[in-house]
Amino acid sequence: MLGRLGRLVPAAVRSVQESFHTLQARTSVMGKPNVIFVLGGPGAGKGTQCARIVESFGYVHLSAGDLLRAERIAPGSEFGELIEHHITNGTIVPVEITCSLLERAMTKSEKNDFLIDGFPRNEDNLTGWNKQMGEKVNVRRVLFFHCSQDICTARCLARGAAGSGRTDDNEESLRKRFVTYETATMPIIRHYEAMNLVSQIDASRSPDECYAEVEEILNKL
Ligand code: C5P
Ligand code: MG
Repeated sequence: MLGRLGRLVPAAVRSVQESFHTLQARTSVMGKPNVIFVLGGPGAGKGTQCARIVESFGYVHLSAGDLLRAERIAPGSEFGELIEHHITNGTIVPVEITCSLLERAMTKSEKNDFLIDGFPRNEDNLTGWNKQMGEKVNVRRVLFFHCSQDICTARCLARGAAGSGRTDDNEESLRKRFVTYETATMPIIRHYEAMNLVSQIDASRSPDECYAEVEEILNKL
């Protein structure tokens, strides 16, 4: 009997999920989503570590940069040029666009644990997120991958040379991305540090070494 119920319930939940149009509607069935922010300089290894976390912990990985790159080329998007301009210059897209892409992806998801990578990146991102999402989710932790500019730059240039296809994996864009990181993103990390939410990871090490520490942090949550 229980076995039969076990098979029936997920199907019922799924059919409700398919009709979700807002994050609140989804939350009323599934509870508030849990969010872990993943921050660090360009090339610190955020994406690599997130992919591993997804495999072992079942989080949904939402990269703000990936969502913006997809929106940039989405047919009919009115934001393509604006996004391209910001990406090439290493500056930050207005939060209304990025936060809506994140909320839409969360609403569509059938899971409740999210890794949000590369966000919030500046004061505008933080304020906009708090206004639009503050009451709707639980921010559980901020993983901060810390790495020197030299190592990060070398990694991004290698990624570009290996054919990442990214318009910003070149020396000029990288210099600008680092200025944004130091001046706009570091204050956001400090803000979360003051709230005791940050776990700092030395990201100059190998992916395996970093991940061993990430696992320890996540197992304690
Ligand atoms: O995180 P990633 O390196 O993929 O981001 C690439 C670019 O996307 C950033 O340099 C920035 O121009 C844009 N971006 C943004 N706002 C975010 C995340 C990324 O404008 N929150
Ligand atoms: Mg990335």
